[in-house]
Amino acid sequence: MTATDRADTSLKQQIIDTYGRDAWDLILTVYVNFYYSELEIIDLCARWLPRRDSLREKNFLIRHAADEVVHARLFREGVEHLGQPWHGFDHQPYRIDDIDERFAKLFYSDDEIEVLIGLNLYAEGVLAMEELVQLGRGRPEYFYQFARIEREERRHVAFGITVANRVLAENPEARRRAVEYCKWYREHLEGYLGGQLKESIGWAMQAGFVAPDYIERTRVRFDDVMSRIGIQGS
Ligand SMILES: [Fe+2]
Ligand SMILES: [Fe+2]
Repeated sequence: MTATDRADTSLKQQIIDTYGRDAWDLILTVYVNFYYSELEIIDLCARWLPRRDSLREKNFLIRHAADEVVHARLFREGVEHLGQPWHGFDHQPYRIDDIDERFAKLFYSDDEIEVLIGLNLYAEGVLAMEELVQLGRGRPEYFYQFARIEREERRHVAFGITVANRVLAENPEARRRAVEYCKWYREHLEGYLGGQLKESIGWAMQAGFVAPDYIERTRVRFDDVMSRIGIQGS
């Protein structure tokens, strides 16, 4: 293939030619799951809006949801940027069941500290953050606007830490529950990295999309985020 041919080829074809079909499937898995997670987060923010009293904390949810609307659009655009029409493939095979289940659990929880830990700190601050950081910096040509999205996700993590620290300061009983939730998510992290995602992470490392110490860095990030609300991760 000449340089001119390559310029005419979509990024999708280049990825398949260079790294194989598994890498392409991995990229679609990332985009599809990020997209549907954003829709869940928008609804979750809306659910908590009437329950927050302070204007400052209501504003956190409004800004959070507004950012996620933009992110959902950027993830769709990211797929199209690779030369794959968003509506041109079946999304279902790419969806990770565990993500839907975790959001469903959070959606029905009336415990604010559970939602803050499960959403802002764990889903956004650990799992999504490590993917955004590594994929966005490692392969910015494939992971469209990930640096911007990463910056905005940091804001959501900061909102979560601020509100969680307020809830914990007001309610000593919430700290006991927070410790339990952290323990649950720490175990979940191991199951997630070593189970459903193991093969995908292996492919991503092989293709050089993420660093060889991806798993270790994710664990460190977990401990770091949880320490911001005064909880030892492990
Ligand atoms: Fe987002
Ligand atoms: Fe977010």
